[in-house]
Amino acid sequence: MQQIDQRLSQAYPPNSQNNTRYIAEIHSVLANVKIDDIGFKDIKFRKVQTKRDLEQLKLLQQEWFPITYGEQFYNSVLNGRVSSLIAEIEIKYPTGRKEKYVIGAMVYQQRQCKTKYLQNLTWKQWFCLFFQTQNALYIMTIGVINEFRGRGIAEYMVEQLKKTVLQSNKTIAYIYLDMVDYNEIASRFYQKQGFNKMRIKKNHYMIENQTFDGYVYVWQPI
Ligand SMILES: CC(C)(COP(=O)(O)OP(=O)(O)OC[C@H]1O[C@@H](n2cnc3c(N)ncnc32)[C@H](O)[C@@H]1OP(=O)(O)O)[C@@H](O)C(=O)NCCC(=O)NCCS
Repeated sequence: MQQIDQRLSQAYPPNSQNNTRYIAEIHSVLANVKIDDIGFKDIKFRKVQTKRDLEQLKLLQQEWFPITYGEQFYNSVLNGRVSSLIAEIEIKYPTGRKEKYVIGAMVYQQRQCKTKYLQNLTWKQWFCLFFQTQNALYIMTIGVINEFRGRGIAEYMVEQLKKTVLQSNKTIAYIYLDMVDYNEIASRFYQKQGFNKMRIKKNHYMIENQTFDGYVYVWQPI
């Protein structure tokens, strides 16, 4: 008999039993709201700024990822040592009270460029690389709540990183990330954004006592 996929996030292993319930408050809030009335123009994008943002991010990341991110990670997000971009909506309650909620988030970091991930370099680009320290942007995490998936929110967040690369005057060479091999939706997402699968890391992840391969996806401006 075929097993029903009960995962809320495809970042969890296909046979996981640990990802069947929401934990962030936003889901119960949305149960009383007409979601279709919330358009893309109602979504604001900004970095993590407050402890409330951080508390929401922690719970959402637990829903999205089977890997635990520690206090050091979240402190770095709050103090800006690693960069963030959150998608936020404002809910207006019948009492007139307004409350903002995170519905998507990307956490990324500037890292040193690795030449092994550079593709189709001209001799001029090799020359620049030799004389100029080049960096890369590494996507550490990206997620969108189920209720708002498929509306282009993650695409918009990745586009902002692409803009940063294009405006960096070639000091940022590419965007890259690691992901687990079974996450087909994420693979399709990155391919649609023009990322190339550059490497397979054998047994890179240990998730729920099982080992899985990892993929490295890279986006480089043409
Ligand atoms: C991967 C994820 C971030 C995508 O977010 P999203 O906001 O729904 O993505 P977008 O709406 O911007 O999708 C853009 C493209 O990605 C692909 N895509 C996204 N979701 C898809 C799905 N469920 N099935 C097939 N393709 C999908 C499509 O090509 C889509 O373009 P299209 O709508 O024009 O066909 C989201 O599914 C998610 O949060 N997943 C759980 C956490 C996770 O796996 N994060 C990635 C870890 S590496």
